[in-house]
Amino acid sequence: MRVFVTGASGFIGSAIVQELLGAGHQVLGLARSEASAQALATAGAQVHRGSLDDLASLRSGAAASDGVMHLAFIHDFSAYEKAGATDRAAIEALGQELAGSDRPLLVTSGLAGFALGRPATESDSPAAMVRPSEPAALALAAQGARASVVRLAASVHDRGDYGFVPTLINIARQTGESAYVGEGLNCWPAVHRLDAARLYRLALEHGAAGARYHGVADEGIALRDIAAIIGQRLNLPVVSKTPEEAADHFGWMARFVGLDMPATSTLTQQQLNWHPSHPSLLADLEHGDYFKG
Ligand SMILES: NC(=O)c1ccc[n+]([C@@H]2O[C@H](COP(=O)([O-])OP(=O)(O)OC[C@H]3O[C@@H](n4cnc5c(N)ncnc54)[C@H](OP(=O)(O)O)[C@@H]3O)[C@@H](O)[C@H]2O)c1
Repeated sequence: MRVFVTGASGFIGSAIVQELLGAGHQVLGLARSEASAQALATAGAQVHRGSLDDLASLRSGAAASDGVMHLAFIHDFSAYEKAGATDRAAIEALGQELAGSDRPLLVTSGLAGFALGRPATESDSPAAMVRPSEPAALALAAQGARASVVRLAASVHDRGDYGFVPTLINIARQTGESAYVGEGLNCWPAVHRLDAARLYRLALEHGAAGARYHGVADEGIALRDIAAIIGQRLNLPVVSKTPEEAADHFGWMARFVGLDMPATSTLTQQQLNWHPSHPSLLADLEHGDYFKG
């Protein structure tokens, strides 16, 4: 298959490029800069210049492919609604191009917003719409497109991670405390980047229209346990913050750090024969590169 990948130059996308090439697919990667274009070419992908704001570039990338994986996202948490609107418009443009064909479109979503008091399953729908990619993809599926969704764990971890967990490490370094909110029993799911990359490939190859897949290996790790390892590795005290103190301590991360968002991937594992095999988040924190440099 020739697969158009948006976000191909990113942390997860670059692992997906390797996974697809290793399985014999061709990759056409979206690049908005010369640096990203060069990184993609070096990785063995074909380059498609364009950006999320240039819908014609997304349509022409999709038109030149047998399937699309959409991972690009503008991670500007100060303008999150705008980023969501750009994401929705991009998915709709990609979907228009694939409409009336059997070519798959896989979009990326997350696992915040369920608040079920138990781990979320693939059959659950979020109570609060945190990111519009999922409804956009499901609307396309309802119109007959082979669109499906990967709901990624809050922590996709591996060497090169610069997401939530490295942010917690930086905050601990800067403040001299490794903190959690309240009792710290709220949980985050996690998945290793290489397991996530394999899941994307399997979902592209075998996924069903309208399906929601969970990119989850660790169902839920208590924030207190993450804070404990960070404190131990940095030799810092591990402390609890009240929700009121959290805003000051965590800055923009405060809105995420107290979230409870455990999730299972039992159905995903069965449906796609996907079996995560790489280290857990806590093992990666204990033995990986998170505290080097
Ligand atoms: N990492 C995680 O822990 C995690 C967890 C849950 C969900 N996710 C989701 O998974 C997806 C991939 O995440 P990631 O960690 O790989 O992100 P990342 O490393 O920040 O990469 C983002 C990708 O999007 C591209 N991009 C950003 N703005 C763009 C624009 N305006 N036009 C075109 N391309 C643009 C970037 O291109 P450049 O190379 O040119 O910057 C890059 O390829 C995202 O949707 C993210 O929200 C990630």
